[in-house]
Amino acid sequence: MSAFQVKGKKLFITLTGGELFCAENRCPHEDIELTLGCLKKGSVVCSLHGFSFDLATGKSSDNDVDNMKTYPVKLENNEIYIQL
Ligand code: FES
Repeated sequence: MSAFQVKGKKLFITLTGGELFCAENRCPHEDIELTLGCLKKGSVVCSLHGFSFDLATGKSSDNDVDNMKTYPVKLENNEIYIQL
């Protein structure tokens, strides 16, 4: 996972299974960077309490925890485009 900031938003991108994903770099459960966690089976796992969030949909592994905010992203001509 690579963390960066654009237009005041903390985001991360990752290339997983040949697909590029982009999401807010903040756990919806509590305010901690998701890039401190790890990737597992198409999800990012938060390092603090272990809830996971689907990279494609942002869906949380726990119904009581909000979903992660995801952004459409594509690679074109060696440049990464994110739809904010
Ligand atoms: S802060 Fe991320 S799962 Fe609790």
